[in-house]
Amino acid sequence: MFKIHKRITLATVLMLSTTSIAFSQTKKAVYLDKNAPIETRVKDLLGRMTLEEKAGQLNQINYGMFTGPDNKVDGEQKKLDLVRQGKIGSFLNTLGVVKIKKVQQIAVEQSRLKIPLLFGFDVIHGYRTLFPIPLAEACSWDMEQVFQNSRIAAKESAASGLNWAFAPMCDVSNDPRWGRVMEGAGEDPYYGSVIAAARVKGFQGNLDGVFDILACVKHFAVYGAVEAGREYNNVDVSRVAFYNKYLPPYTAAIKSGAATVMTSFNVFDGVPASGNSFLLTDILQNRLGFKGFVVSDWNAFAEMIAHGYAEDKKDAVYKALKAGSMMDMESRTAIAFLPELVKEGKLTEAEVDKAVGAILYYKFKLGLFENPYKFLDEKREKENVFNAENRKVAREAAKKSILLLKNNNEVLPLKNPNQKIALIGFYANSKPDMVDMWKASADAHDCLTIHEGLKKQFSNITFVDGYKQDNSTSPELINQAVKNAENAEVVIINIGITGNLSGEDKSLADIAIAQGQVELLKALKKTGKPIITLVSSGRPMILNEVQGLSDALVQCWVLGTETGNAVAEVLSGKYNPSAKTVMSFPYSLGQIPVYYNHFNTGRPAGEPNAKEKPTDFYSRFHDIPNEPFYPFGYGLSYTTFNYSNLKTSAPVMDEKGSLSVSVDLQNSGKYDGEEVVQLYIQDVTASIVRPVKELKAFKKLLLKTGEKTTVEFKITPNDLSFFDQNGNSILEKGKFKVYVGGNSRDVLAALFELK
Ligand code: NOJ
Repeated sequence: MFKIHKRITLATVLMLSTTSIAFSQTKKAVYLDKNAPIETRVKDLLGRMTLEEKAGQLNQINYGMFTGPDNKVDGEQKKLDLVRQGKIGSFLNTLGVVKIKKVQQIAVEQSRLKIPLLFGFDVIHGYRTLFPIPLAEACSWDMEQVFQNSRIAAKESAASGLNWAFAPMCDVSNDPRWGRVMEGAGEDPYYGSVIAAARVKGFQGNLDGVFDILACVKHFAVYGAVEAGREYNNVDVSRVAFYNKYLPPYTAAIKSGAATVMTSFNVFDGVPASGNSFLLTDILQNRLGFKGFVVSDWNAFAEMIAHGYAEDKKDAVYKALKAGSMMDMESRTAIAFLPELVKEGKLTEAEVDKAVGAILYYKFKLGLFENPYKFLDEKREKENVFNAENRKVAREAAKKSILLLKNNNEVLPLKNPNQKIALIGFYANSKPDMVDMWKASADAHDCLTIHEGLKKQFSNITFVDGYKQDNSTSPELINQAVKNAENAEVVIINIGITGNLSGEDKSLADIAIAQGQVELLKALKKTGKPIITLVSSGRPMILNEVQGLSDALVQCWVLGTETGNAVAEVLSGKYNPSAKTVMSFPYSLGQIPVYYNHFNTGRPAGEPNAKEKPTDFYSRFHDIPNEPFYPFGYGLSYTTFNYSNLKTSAPVMDEKGSLSVSVDLQNSGKYDGEEVVQLYIQDVTASIVRPVKELKAFKKLLLKTGEKTTVEFKITPNDLSFFDQNGNSILEKGKFKVYVGGNSRDVLAALFELK
């Protein structure tokens, strides 16, 4: 069952206060006393604020990038004037110590109450040093690495003056057409939870150091379920799916202490998330005990008008605040209408204080009242941003994210550094195509291309484009590529899509490899040379045809600054790949959504290798298999691993006990290598049908060639419970299957019973 935090909430403190808190300016400023408890300081400050100033704290606007809805009206001077008047609580997209200092100075030296500002930014996979996109980094199954990546992202951001990262994205998604799958941890709720916790801790630390910044859990909630993967589209999920599949990663992030939560753009049960009291009050506050503050997504308060849920901006901010939203990103509704709404009696001052108090709480917590320039040190900025140490971590992260999907005849690794290599593919040599829309403050020119990286490890490489930037080719480009291949011993071809087609507003209806690239591959195949295909893309693509044309297939995702070095280390065998995909690769477009933790249906197709299969009228496609092309958890190594002897410590487990599961694992190949051992559970019969498999534990370990070990896991009742339609945690007796293997498909199975 859920534990509700016992700590007295800020809201309680505010509500318990029956006396009026109308302090005068002459009264001792308790809020400036660093020894007073934060709750007391917040209360004191709220008592000194006008309604307009309170509305100001709820107002977050863009200053520095893009064009906001009202950006044309608000020039720089107007924005700075708003700061002077106490009408801004936070800016987003303001970057660099010099600029941020100038703005913070106005807030703390020229505004009446000297309330410091928060500065937020989308630090999705690094600030200046780019790490692999979150989807790729998640394929490492290495939580220490994931933690370090966020830690350095926080370090660079904090050193550059920021105190708030709009990450981690905790949206579970099954749809690779959605451009934002690159920002998440894939399709599994348990795995997404482990990642979310590591990332929150990485950003926030203990929220007391100069490199600790606020994290933001987003997008609350269920944004990953947008229909057809089309950005900003409708969402329609059941309560059972909500509690069991979508909620866990947000929950884990919040339980790890995340300070802020961002609402999503979508509706849930017909109500836009920013105005949804079920999501923001019942779930976030009451069920999860969230004590931080909620920020809307960009313009999401005002977008409730287009949704058809709010009449106008005034109605929008009223509905948003009533539901539990707090800070208004970019739609400027709070600043325009909040005082009026209170005067009309529609919103109570206590409701406003709850929202404003939660924001102030974190300004105190970060120590900004004591030192508003805490994050504003130019020397620190110079020393900590884009340094060799950070790049080293990014390189480690990148090589651990590279996914080996096929390796026929051990074409990889390429052991001879003097081998004649034909490198083909526009992207392998194009820096601008290496970065995605969430490149933050990075410069594409700082990224090392695959071509540059390979040249460091191999002496004999000739490169040609083979296709154009738009993925089309021509007879001339194909001829050049074929000639290049004919003169070489091995072909490395880089295909996929530009990095810039990853991220927000990057939905694609077709995620097959472009025809131009396939044509090129076909021509190269005819040369008879071994073909190593590298796929660059911020999402799983349909690799069906490409796989058949390649001897080795490597998914390189979007790997960030150290791309070239990481790819070269993997291809040369200096690093033995260990990544496993956290999102299923679809067999074809029509199969989407396809994911491992699906339900059985009343007419299942049966296991792919089952002896007895249904003959007709069962759940299937006539033209393709039901199974994905590459399943969740799949990824090869240069070595092989052998699983045997799966055992449970007892055939039964009682409700208060636990069960040990063990499996023997041997490195049966020629290289030392790492394996991710995955444990899945299936609740065979339950009052609510359960997925055919659910990941419950994993271990990543290094085995020397020939080495054998026994891997042990513990199953507890918590692993066997699930949520009903009302969100109650249920533990039911009966039969369970446990599966262990190196991916979600190829597993050993055992049965036990909960009594
Ligand atoms: C919109 C995106 O959905 C969100 O993830 C991001 O944090 C904000 N814009 C701010 O840039």
